Amino acid sequence: MLNAALSRFPRLELVPSPTPLEKLERLSQKLGRAIYVKRDDITPFALGGNKVRKLEFLAADALAAGADTLVTAGAIQSNHVRQTAALAARLGLSCVALLENPIGTSDSNYLSNGNRLLLDLFGTEVELVANLDNADELLAATGERLRAAGKRPYLVPIGGSNALGALGYVRAGLELAEQIKASGETFSAVVLASGSAGTHAGLALALEHALPGTRVVGVTVSRPDATQRPKVEGLLQRTADLLGVDVPASLRVELWDQYFAPRYGEPNAGTLEAVRLVASHEGLLLDPVYTGKAFAGLLDGVAAGAFAGEGPVLFLHTGGSPALFAYHPARPI
Ligand SMILES: Cc1ncc(COP(=O)(O)O)c(C=O)c1O
Repeated sequence: MLNAALSRFPRLELVPSPTPLEKLERLSQKLGRAIYVKRDDITPFALGGNKVRKLEFLAADALAAGADTLVTAGAIQSNHVRQTAALAARLGLSCVALLENPIGTSDSNYLSNGNRLLLDLFGTEVELVANLDNADELLAATGERLRAAGKRPYLVPIGGSNALGALGYVRAGLELAEQIKASGETFSAVVLASGSAGTHAGLALALEHALPGTRVVGVTVSRPDATQRPKVEGLLQRTADLLGVDVPASLRVELWDQYFAPRYGEPNAGTLEAVRLVASHEGLLLDPVYTGKAFAGLLDGVAAGAFAGEGPVLFLHTGGSPALFAYHPARPI
């Protein structure tokens, strides 16, 4: 039913086949618990990551609207802005990006390396802003300004996280449900980073429809449960409404918010330990802003016995490794 609802929405085919589901053999052995990873970090576009799945729907909508410019916003090291800018280049559109410096750093790597370096390669028009507390208003004002100059802007919200963008993770959730069924495993939980919430909302909605009772743990990367929960729940409802389906009454939004301190965009000791552990045991790159924090939650959960049963734990790897070059996680910060 979700598949049929989803097929009504135009989509650019950038992620044509399922991303791999892999077991992390050495890490599983070390932890005494099987850990699997769904590799959305290697979605085949501009160094990979979760945003391209949302952009498949958002950019199709932009093209249908006759847009000539994608306008979006995020941190200087935003993966979302990187993938939006790359897609604009691929489609022959302009890209205007409003960027904030959420950690107030003057470190030259943060300001010009990693994702930010790539924006210049993609030909992005960058505007630095004091903050993105009112991002939607700033985006709207930028859209007005561009329209007055004769452009046809299309506004992509922070993280691509509106209902249309979240369809990308409804599709990913259906894909994952098939992979889980085919694996023959009974997973104890799916763990992911919960930020602008489109990934969490879309995936949780699809899994509860396709594999009811699958536990989804969102590790917050930006804010506490009290403010993240309404974001996830609101987007879940708007996404279900867009598709014309129900949010199943059984769906529980589970958030772990002990891992994002001191704030969005700033790794803590546990984040860096997780990045190092996974790199040194598996040759797999996490990132210092999202997946490092989420994986730190997974490690803590395994150690504390927070994943009931004996089943494997599945980590949704949402990408972000280009930011490693902006943070130097190999050294203490
Ligand atoms: C690498 C990475 N992982 C996870 C997320 C969080 O996804 P969402 O914003 O959909 O909650 C982001 C968002 O920017 C990201 O860049």
